[in-house]
Amino acid sequence: MTFEATCTAPVNIAVVKYWGKRDTSLILPTNSSLSVTLSQDQLHSKTTIRASADFVSDRLWLNGIEESITSNKRLVACLRETRALRTKIEAEDASAPKLAHLNIHICSENNFPTAAGLASSASGYACLVYTLSKLFQLPLDASDLSIVARQGSGSACRSLFGGFVAWEMGERADGADSKAVQIAPETHWPDLQALICVVSDEKKGTSSTEGMQLTVKTSPLLQERIKNVVPQRMDEMIAAIKDKDFPKFAELTMRDSNQFHAVCLDTYPPIFYMNDISRAIIRIITEYNRDGIKAAYTYDAGPNAVIYAPAANMAEIYSLLSHYFPGAAFDDSLGLLNNAAAPT
Ligand code: DP6
Repeated sequence: MTFEATCTAPVNIAVVKYWGKRDTSLILPTNSSLSVTLSQDQLHSKTTIRASADFVSDRLWLNGIEESITSNKRLVACLRETRALRTKIEAEDASAPKLAHLNIHICSENNFPTAAGLASSASGYACLVYTLSKLFQLPLDASDLSIVARQGSGSACRSLFGGFVAWEMGERADGADSKAVQIAPETHWPDLQALICVVSDEKKGTSSTEGMQLTVKTSPLLQERIKNVVPQRMDEMIAAIKDKDFPKFAELTMRDSNQFHAVCLDTYPPIFYMNDISRAIIRIITEYNRDGIKAAYTYDAGPNAVIYAPAANMAEIYSLLSHYFPGAAFDDSLGLLNNAAAPT
């Protein structure tokens, strides 16, 4: 007999950035973070998992290409955790189907290019863990699952929810309190939209995983950020979201992106993620905001910009950017997104 589950999960873009781990194997962060989940219509990961007594080993295909499972410690951790939870269910209920010991085949794909510098690991691991939870019929809520997804990729824990999501860093050494919680659902602020500007689709030079640990080791500015900036910023961001206060939300988002990239520059040797086009977009948005804040930019570990703005401003922003960057490659890559839903 074959058991099967298929699910999709969304991408999220942080407005208070996660950068730094206090435990690299459990993936426990040095600060809390907060993100907006993007619509699954335009960007998502989709995963199908089958379990069968006929399968001779666990196998994985990513975007149609087979990859090794054993060399991927993070994937192994997610499988180990979910199988342990299933084993417990089977031990407590003799009538539960015996699934935990079966080998599985995992097929996962993104409907967007992995190399585009968008958060494919966030949607990918959220989708893996969510699909495993369906396959193994785990009675866990999204916060419980976020604790498992976090062990795949930190930012993945936030993709278990739609809307506005905080990853609470927690204090415990075992990570049991380092989990995602929903601040507001996707229906809360439908007027807020995101525009993704793909500045470059080349793979980034320094991965987030490597880059953040070099920052932890070498940047005094990161210590200032962790202690004296993020705790208060999290509170202010949550209040701005609850009040739908766009100017406040936008200022905090831009300040946090700026500080994250300052911390990268303070890393020794320094890490550069933005390029000249990224910086030009910052100048354009700053000028656009001169008489009042109408848009916010944010950049992750790559040169691509995500612009948040109220729906009414989006057409103007789009034509402003198209005016400065008339090149087809840039123009064709712009996408308009509503913020939206959790895995399904
Ligand atoms: C800049 O979640 O990719 O996008 O936990 O090592 O997999 P790992 O790192 P990852 O880092 C994301 C960093 C970021 C900020 C954010 O999403 O909060």
